[in-house]
Amino acid sequence: MPGLVIVGAQWGDEGKGKIVDFLSEGADVVVRFQGGNNAGHTIVHDGKEHFLHIVPSGVIRGRTSVIGNGVVLDLEVLSEEMIRLRAAGIEPDLRISDRAHLILPYHRIIDGVVDRSAGIGTTKRGIGPAYADKAYRVGLRVADLFSPDLEGRLERCMRAKEALLVGMGVDELLPAVGEVAAKLRRLSREIAPMVCDTSEFLEGRLRQGQNVLFEGAQGVLLDTDFGTYPFVTSSSTCAGGASTGTGVPPRHLTRVVGVVKAYQTRVGEGPMPTEFPPDIAEAVRVKGGEYGVTTGRPRRCGDLDLVALRHSIRVGGITSIALTKADVLGELDAVKVATSYVIGGKRWTSLPADAGVLARAKPVYEELAPWSDIDRKAVAAEGYGALPAELRAYVSFIERSTDTPIDIVSYGPARSETVVVRDPWS
Ligand code: GDP
Ligand code: IMO
Ligand code: MG
Repeated sequence: MPGLVIVGAQWGDEGKGKIVDFLSEGADVVVRFQGGNNAGHTIVHDGKEHFLHIVPSGVIRGRTSVIGNGVVLDLEVLSEEMIRLRAAGIEPDLRISDRAHLILPYHRIIDGVVDRSAGIGTTKRGIGPAYADKAYRVGLRVADLFSPDLEGRLERCMRAKEALLVGMGVDELLPAVGEVAAKLRRLSREIAPMVCDTSEFLEGRLRQGQNVLFEGAQGVLLDTDFGTYPFVTSSSTCAGGASTGTGVPPRHLTRVVGVVKAYQTRVGEGPMPTEFPPDIAEAVRVKGGEYGVTTGRPRRCGDLDLVALRHSIRVGGITSIALTKADVLGELDAVKVATSYVIGGKRWTSLPADAGVLARAKPVYEELAPWSDIDRKAVAAEGYGALPAELRAYVSFIERSTDTPIDIVSYGPARSETVVVRDPWS
């Protein structure tokens, strides 16, 4: 099993960081393949909490880390993250793709201005504008940092932006090309030894029989094609993105673990059919600590949506599930899951493409028995069988409804609070 992909199956923040850290035990290399520092992944181990935005989560276990070509990279954020990791006693063994696109200061400005009218509720990290420039062929890549013509290339990229910002009514002046170039040159010296053709690097490791874990960011419902467009991010968050975002062919990516939170959360705008009323949302938010790692925004919370999950499993290429936050859901008075929608008097079992239609969806719920507190000692000693019977019934219900096995159940943020039913690496 040399290549294993981890994707978020909902609107992000499913606990990918925790699951990647857990599964990194069996990995030699962990690679990020899309997104940028809009991601916020949390790893809890030995009583310490680590927050990562750009370096892959396997770094906490000392695994070799790769930032693939599909990522958009903010060098300042990377530099700060490296300082934080070193302060925590971790020396990252990192490789960075020479083809990854850079997030530049004007991307952040444009993100803020565009979102004021678009109303997506982005993270304002410049992600959309950086991907737009990539598609528009006016982006700057890591390889450009080492060109003697860096200033010339930057100038060509920035010239078009000045006019755009004036047209948008932005009076904030862009820094001079020379100033931006000088900063980039300084930051590029920090990363120079790490930059390489990461596709070649990964192929070499796979050829040696090493295990490579592909770490997704965001979630399938935020995928630019298959998510709740336009309330999405700007990259391919599905398993296919792991191939295009690393240069590793799909034949290596036969197993895909979808991380599924036991309930639904969302940050930012867009439809969310099973959203809780404010009082229940607040209770779950507090129990589950549902506040964004990147922006600190409170997450919207709701019941598990199996219509959306079946969609995510199909388009995301998910072959098995890691269920997280079972402990949080168990403390509620009732557990409900949406199994279909009614929209305009018609029953829907699949996710409509039009966000306006989805916004009108009335979920049809099935109610399941809640579970009492999880006996952590017993579960640690005896495994899956020691989980409450009602939680095991919830697991079976999801498996039956999605025709997908649940390999892992997570019942707390720490690495140790995890039960493996079947090892995804096996
Ligand atoms: P990611 O973006 O998918 O990596 O998820 P985040 O790190 O943004 O958010 C997940 C949050 O839930 C973090 O605070 C995790 O420490 C926490 N977490 C992960 N798994 C569990 C779990 O099973 N139970 C509880 N209570 N917290 C969890
Ligand atoms: P992780 O990897 C949750 C959301 C934003 C916004 C939309 C577009 O931690 O799961 P963007 O800045 O990407 O253009 O914003 O996507 N979003 C996330 N929500 N978790 C994330 O990452 C997210 N990354 C982006 O809130 O609605
Ligand atoms: Mg997150």
